[in-house]
Amino acid sequence: TDLHTMGQHDFPELKNDRLLKAAKGEAVDKIPVWIMRQAGRYLPEFREFRSKHDFFKICQTPELACEITLQPIDRFPELDASIIFSDILVIPQALGMTVEMRPGVGPVLPEPLVSPEDLARLKFPVDVSKELSYVMEAITLTRHKLRGRVPLIGFSGAPWTLMGYMIEGGGSKTMSKSKKWLYEHPAESKKLLSILTSVVSDYLVGQAKAGAQLLQVFESNAEYLGPELFNEFALPCIRDISEKVKRELGDDKVPMTIFAKGAHYSLEELAQSGYEVVGIDWTVDPSLARLKVGSNVTLQGNLDPCALYADNEQLAQRTHQMVDKFGKQRYIANLGHGIYPDMDPAKVEVFLKAIHSH
Ligand code: CP3
Repeated sequence: TDLHTMGQHDFPELKNDRLLKAAKGEAVDKIPVWIMRQAGRYLPEFREFRSKHDFFKICQTPELACEITLQPIDRFPELDASIIFSDILVIPQALGMTVEMRPGVGPVLPEPLVSPEDLARLKFPVDVSKELSYVMEAITLTRHKLRGRVPLIGFSGAPWTLMGYMIEGGGSKTMSKSKKWLYEHPAESKKLLSILTSVVSDYLVGQAKAGAQLLQVFESNAEYLGPELFNEFALPCIRDISEKVKRELGDDKVPMTIFAKGAHYSLEELAQSGYEVVGIDWTVDPSLARLKVGSNVTLQGNLDPCALYADNEQLAQRTHQMVDKFGKQRYIANLGHGIYPDMDPAKVEVFLKAIHSH
């Protein structure tokens, strides 16, 4: 089958549009809900599948990525969205860097960027529609296989978060190597960030054209920056991305979400950065977040993922308390970050039902 020519305009009709309505500020019958990292190791069917396939092999094989994307949708009829199975680190790969996913460790980039001279190693410009065509194919295939049950979210890492992985060579407790770049080599840091901004923008445009119905940008490493570094280095890229993506998509625009984990200090700015939805982590009080962002954006979040360790009654109660604070308008329910591998899928069901029964 030629997935490229699979009709992009003959997708099955969408039956559940709560997520898209909430993103656009329209009234909803029930609060839409999904879970960051909803396809993953907390699901036994994922672990079983993963024992047979390499992580990036799954990302690179549309049929496999599609199958994993659908696992939580098949299991939890209450979910109001799917998110394409992939990883933010496919962008460093497209730029020519090696990324390995080591069980028990996480992502490892064995040859990180050490000094600004290493920027010459990056393969830029990148033809994203070629280098990441497997993601676009996975999206198109998944749109068909979803049969319109729920919308499909596409995503990318934001430039600062990607820069962090490319310099640290993996996760880090302090991000001190990448923050050192910001202080020691500000011009070269901006050069790297602008390369990433360009690739991320093309990548998101490609995903929307392939069938993604909402695009989420993960700035997971915002928590390491304060307002000054964030406003100087990270925020301009976040703004450029929404502007570029919307300009290029024209009449085929889709709603966009910015989730900058830990960026409580920049909520006002994020609310004006061109995204319909602003995701917040669990450390931010929902009422305060609403005051800061105003009424023109949708908020997404923000139950402490660890609340899923509570008993059913406490979990439902805390979920209801959260919804009371957010209110039903311009709100998409989610956790305040991704679900952890040791969490019980039964608790996910309690959470989803508590949202819909509110
Ligand atoms: O269900 C979904 O949400 C879609 C799939 C998805 C994955 N990664 C799959 C994955 C998404 C949206 C991501 C985004 C991602 N990847 C982020 C941003 C979101 C966040 O959590 O802040 C980040 C920072 C990464 C980078 C990354 N990938 C890390 C740090 C790790 C290790 C930690 C962990 O959760 O394992 C990964 C691995 C990863 N990405 C797994 C999955 C299912 C587990 C890998 C495995 O099976 O071994």
